[in-house]
Amino acid sequence: MPEVTPHHNAPEAERVEPRCPYFGSCGGCRFQDIAYAEQVARKHRRFTEQLSDVVPAELLEEAIFCPSKAEWRYRNKMEFSFSPATGELALGMHKSGSYWNVIDVEDCLISPEPFGEVMSAVRDFAARSGIDAYSSKKKSGFWRHLTLRWSETQAGVMALLITTPGERGVVDPLFEGLLRDIPCVRSLYWGINSKISDVAIPDELIHIGGEEFLIEEIDGVKLRVYPLNFFQPNLSQTRRIYRDMASLLPRTESLRIVDLYCGTGAIGLYLAFHAPGVSDVIGVEQDEGNIASAQANKEANGITEARFVATNIENRLKEDMMFLRRFSPGLIVLDPPRPGLHKKVYGPLVESGARYIFYLSCNIKSLSFDLQQIFARSRDYEIRHIGVYDMFPHTPHFETLVILEKQVRDSS
Ligand SMILES: C[S@@+](CC[C@H](N)C(=O)[O-])C[C@H]1O[C@@H](n2cnc3c(N)ncnc32)[C@H](O)[C@@H]1O
Repeated sequence: MPEVTPHHNAPEAERVEPRCPYFGSCGGCRFQDIAYAEQVARKHRRFTEQLSDVVPAELLEEAIFCPSKAEWRYRNKMEFSFSPATGELALGMHKSGSYWNVIDVEDCLISPEPFGEVMSAVRDFAARSGIDAYSSKKKSGFWRHLTLRWSETQAGVMALLITTPGERGVVDPLFEGLLRDIPCVRSLYWGINSKISDVAIPDELIHIGGEEFLIEEIDGVKLRVYPLNFFQPNLSQTRRIYRDMASLLPRTESLRIVDLYCGTGAIGLYLAFHAPGVSDVIGVEQDEGNIASAQANKEANGITEARFVATNIENRLKEDMMFLRRFSPGLIVLDPPRPGLHKKVYGPLVESGARYIFYLSCNIKSLSFDLQQIFARSRDYEIRHIGVYDMFPHTPHFETLVILEKQVRDSS
């Protein structure tokens, strides 16, 4: 085992030889020296601890825990960074605990195998160019990030190269080479980022060649993936979650769904496609690019009864408290980012009249807080089901699905 300070206190018996040569120096996959079954047990314990104040013990015990089918090669998107910090130009992951240092990575074992070939072609080209990688300390340099996405359906790669502003002639030979020499490269973009902040989000996005988007298919539902769209990173676990949601849908005649934080509309469209009782879907999401993709996804799947609204949910609710109620939802799907729901959402959510709430959370702490807030405002909602899904082996993260049902009180 490499000489590294472990990020945990696992006893020797639970530890395994880490497979990745970068383990310990790379900032990701901190738990890969713990046997996967033990990683899952630890996540299970954390789930129970975090929710024990808000969920009755018997419901916690009944929660369905779903480990990831794939322990390796499960991520369909990776953001790699260029760095000049070590002298030679490197392309890979940030060193543990460092903003400056990047470890040169040949193959990241949680990402699809073809990513290694694309990275190596891009790294070699950038190194031969004689142009520096961007340094946020010096505020100069050119090469910044390489974001790679993978479609399992197409067995294809989308590459987004992010640089500071520069001549197209510098990058064109690289793009031509990628499209010509690596058959699985299906889509190429160049992103230009002139900001100082070191995030892989460009100010300008140029489609260079190949297809404009990848397509991922989940149980017959076709979903477009553009370079900056949100898309769940572990496809087989996402499929599992969507299937569970569809099977747990109430068998009503006509169910109107409001899908909040809908991204590219994946959940609402999946449910509309697979559950005959769904009569209408309204997706709400603040990112206009995601909403444009949601609209295209609706058309590609021949779903007529769906519409998508581009708005910041809490700002919209500040202006119009009745925004949710006006849709008369039978079910509200919540899939917020890590901070969870904004405090402006709780009141209108419980006042919406929705009989069901499906809350999918990527942060157990914010889920626990949000459930407390919901229960503090309404005693009518009860938990019907909890599913826990490990989307991210070797990391501390997991997804939790909580299904709430509103009790119809006898008014007599
Ligand atoms: C976890 S993703 C959910 C995506 C989608 N449900 C799916 O399954 O693909 C969270 C989404 O919420 C959006 N978002 C974040 N804050 C928001 C806000 N305040 N109002 C509206 N949308 C927001 C993000 O742009 C992102 O697409």
